[in-house]
Amino acid sequence: MDVFVIKGGRKLSGTIRINGSKNAALPLMTAALLTDEPLILSEVPNLSDIRNMTKLLGELGVQSDIETTDLGQTITHRVVDPTQSHARYEIVRTMRASISTLGPLVAKRGYARVSLPGGCAIGQRPVDLHLRGLEALGAKITLDGGDIIAQAPGGRLIGASVFLGGPFGSTVLGTANILSAATLARGTTIIESAACEPEIVDLANMLIAMGAKISGAGSPRITIEGVEELSGTTHRVMPDRIEAGTYMCAAAITQSEITLDNCPLDAMMSATDTLGHMGVDVNAVGSADDPMRRSCVISRTGAITPVQITTQPHPGFPTDLQAQFMALLCLSNGNAVITEKIFPERFLHVAELCRMGAQIHRQGATAVVTGVQQLTGAPVMASDLRASAGLVIAALAAQGQTIINRVYHIDRGYEHLEDKPAKVGASIRRANAEEFANSTMTL
Ligand code: EPZ
Repeated sequence: MDVFVIKGGRKLSGTIRINGSKNAALPLMTAALLTDEPLILSEVPNLSDIRNMTKLLGELGVQSDIETTDLGQTITHRVVDPTQSHARYEIVRTMRASISTLGPLVAKRGYARVSLPGGCAIGQRPVDLHLRGLEALGAKITLDGGDIIAQAPGGRLIGASVFLGGPFGSTVLGTANILSAATLARGTTIIESAACEPEIVDLANMLIAMGAKISGAGSPRITIEGVEELSGTTHRVMPDRIEAGTYMCAAAITQSEITLDNCPLDAMMSATDTLGHMGVDVNAVGSADDPMRRSCVISRTGAITPVQITTQPHPGFPTDLQAQFMALLCLSNGNAVITEKIFPERFLHVAELCRMGAQIHRQGATAVVTGVQQLTGAPVMASDLRASAGLVIAALAAQGQTIINRVYHIDRGYEHLEDKPAKVGASIRRANAEEFANSTMTL
């Protein structure tokens, strides 16, 4: 098992290129199940979640040919065995996004057996809305041995009106599942209270290029007219707004100036607006031809002003940046309030940040962060992916050395997290946990 060894206090300077989005790429990959033709995805990030999805698709009869380029991976997916429809627990339990194979499988093959994902570090995470949506499209859903079995009577789903709202808003992967499934259903589907996340727009754009008839993606009402079949296509995965937001926090906490290239600024307004209120400048530079692929300069010179943050579905503040912003607010000059409305238990980073000297008081889904003058390096434990990213942000500014254990969580969602900050001047390296414990390794 690896650890990150980070020595805080270094200024950052230079340029980081943002890679393709993990959360866009995963449902894009499962769309390979919807077509008999090759689906080519470029700028797919090289992450453990992506490798797990490639493995799962392999078990579902999809061959993946991977070419590594300077801009990430180009993966050509081809269905070679359409008889396989079982997403096994052994893979699903490593990656909840496996649930996004369910819609494409039942839509194209008329049958799916997908292991029910269990709980995870950030909460219970039910899939009831995914199932309700597929049932509305005519699928017969049963449970057997911990697996969801979905069957389309007569082999084909039927278009319907589907309401995907819950007490929290909508569901991102649930919307991806129903949207994908409805492309091959007979008749028209309306998804009401659809997720508006940019990753859903990216998926819809690709499905349209494959011949799907979709309107309204990016709004709460998506209309899909089912077609008989979809073709293959070539699609460039959108850049990762959460990776971009994470590096914005890295620049802000170290009081540095860095440039981000390939940054999906148009999808990040809640984050950049919040940074503005905190005294962090985010300035777009260069061509504005594609608002989802901008260059921007992030800098901070003054104090960090405390703010109130409430996580919400897009275009509200993303839950996936909550931990990183909390780390930044640990050094503000007052009291900040963070309320987590998407995953109310997603506060595993709080205790670890407190080990580094942060003052955070949590009550239920709200945390009050009282700014301190200085954080101090400490051994800490990574838990979920974004909580771990929050610890990296804190460590970059902390006095002394921080050891982050269990970095495999970080490898699920950040490509080369040790390399990119190091390239712009951070002191961060990966080490083997046992070797590190037995040595007097210094940076
Ligand atoms: C996606 O998860 C992302 N994952 C998550 O990113 C992200 O945190 C989340 O959306 C919210 O933005 C991927 O895209 C692979 P949801 P998803 O269904 O789709 C409740 C990361 O760190 N809910 O939108 O699974 C649920 O419990 C990951 O990269 C139901 O009640 O999230 C939560 O409270 C973590 N019933 C809320 O909806 C359902 O059937 C939103 O969850 C489905 C969800």
